[in-house]
Amino acid sequence: MDFKGQHILSAEQFDKESLLALFEEARKMEEIVAGQRREEARGFEKIFDGKVLATLFFEPSTRTRFSFEAAFLRLGGKVVSGADMMTTSSVKKRETLYDTGKTLSQLVELIVMRHPEPGSVDELASGCSIPVINAGDGPHQHPTQGLLDLYTIWKNFEGKIDGLKVGMVGDLKHSRVMHSLREFLKHWDVEFVFVAPKGLEMPGEECVEDLGAVIGGMDVIQTTRIQEERFSSKEEAEKHRGKYVFDGEMMAKAKATAILMNPLPRVDEITTDVDYDPRAKYFEQVGNGLAVRMALLAMVLG
Ligand code: NCD
Repeated sequence: MDFKGQHILSAEQFDKESLLALFEEARKMEEIVAGQRREEARGFEKIFDGKVLATLFFEPSTRTRFSFEAAFLRLGGKVVSGADMMTTSSVKKRETLYDTGKTLSQLVELIVMRHPEPGSVDELASGCSIPVINAGDGPHQHPTQGLLDLYTIWKNFEGKIDGLKVGMVGDLKHSRVMHSLREFLKHWDVEFVFVAPKGLEMPGEECVEDLGAVIGGMDVIQTTRIQEERFSSKEEAEKHRGKYVFDGEMMAKAKATAILMNPLPRVDEITTDVDYDPRAKYFEQVGNGLAVRMALLAMVLG
């Protein structure tokens, strides 16, 4: 599959072969980053020389925006960044996303965008003559987070994803990360276990509520916070708070070989003492995200 010049809007665009090719590239990117950190040989980090990336964020972000920007900078490109587009861009003056896309296409080579509305990134992309990458469109999808989560699984299980039991725990209704990761994992023979509070189930899937009863069978435990900004009121979200907490006691029930993941931010679903558990991979995921995004950017820009 050739991603050169393509928009990256949803997980469904990827087949297994292109995922594996991306991961091989990500491995190389990890070495480039390691070299940069050691201030050693800098072979190939001029590939985006003369190119400009625009990041358009209409929703808060720490990891996704900074890792896309760091990825582009590390490969020699330059970045213009809109971290607060809802209030600071002309969208505030009712300019359409389509026109915003038309405009940015005159200025930069690539766009990364996040927005609270499902389909919004597609709308901007419809006005663009340059590639657009979806960095999260409301509760719909977050394909690059799904990619880095899958990469984390692939690395930790040395490429052997078939046969794993993958647990997804938390607000599965609103988590775009879970939606994208589930899509990617369909290319492998995995067994899913969905654990969610009543009313926050994964669309179209059988879910269970009792985490303690099923955690012991999971090889991969992907968790996420209650996505409170997607609820009609703060009170509605609060009802579900504290339902699943990964602390020492809960982790004692998990397999010794399991990995615990979370796209972050965590709020109260993982206690900080668990950070020292070797099964905790959520900060490793962040580093993997840098490498995966470097690889994806390189593929998209050819
Ligand atoms: C996720 C998101 O924005 O969907 N964060 C991220 O990109 N790492 C998860 C979340 O906000 O809970």
